[in-house]
Amino acid sequence: MPSVIAVAQQKGGAGKTTLAANLAVALAAGRRVALWDADPQHSLSRWRRLREEGRGARAALEFLEVAGWRIGIELERIGRTNGLVVIDTPPEIATDARQAVRGADLVLVPLQPSPPDLWAAEGTLRLAAAERRPARLVLNRAPAASRLRASMEAEITARGLPVLGVALGNRAVFASSFAAGLSVLEAAPRSAAATEMALLAAEVAALLG
Ligand SMILES: Nc1ncnc2c1ncn2[C@@H]1O[C@H](COP(=O)(O)OP(=O)(O)O)[C@@H](O)[C@H]1O
Ligand SMILES: [Mg+2]
Repeated sequence: MPSVIAVAQQKGGAGKTTLAANLAVALAAGRRVALWDADPQHSLSRWRRLREEGRGARAALEFLEVAGWRIGIELERIGRTNGLVVIDTPPEIATDARQAVRGADLVLVPLQPSPPDLWAAEGTLRLAAAERRPARLVLNRAPAASRLRASMEAEITARGLPVLGVALGNRAVFASSFAAGLSVLEAAPRSAAATEMALLAAEVAALLG
């Protein structure tokens, strides 16, 4: 079976879709990566359309369009080629998000440095724990050095919550590249955002083994 990463967080606007798209591109070097848009708002599918309409060099990604029982067959097909599936999920612990978490080898929970994001993220971590899936918080839109970030990090440590070592800064290129159907690695390979994304992907790849 392929490795499956579910990007989940009950709170909307935390950065799930941005992380899923950018991580898929970052991990597509050297392996087959498929994205599965499990969010009925379909922002990832719209990103795909922009991507297909655009010009220039882009990483080859697959997009899974299947639902329900067929997903098992698709995962097996991709798994035969040592593939990876990244699932973007809806902002609620509804059936689809729960199923994605249940089938994941790693659950990533993006959160912005604000208490409501942390409270919502804890709910998603509890869900992952209930399903016995490994999970990591991913600090997103985190100002490099700020009191807010420091207090969030202290809070995360105090509660013993698992968190990725690499955080993503608040960088406009995440929004502008997404609007062009690209990842930050493709739109601005020399940007700080691209460096962070590459480091984050390396940390995730190491966790998957
Ligand atoms: N690291 C970042 N820096 C700047 N903007 C970001 C970053 N991550 C996400 N965003 C922006 O925040 C908004 C919400 O992100 P999105 O990925 O759609 O969240 P979700 O899928 O969790 O609802 C989008 O406008 C996106 O461009
Ligand atoms: Mg989304």
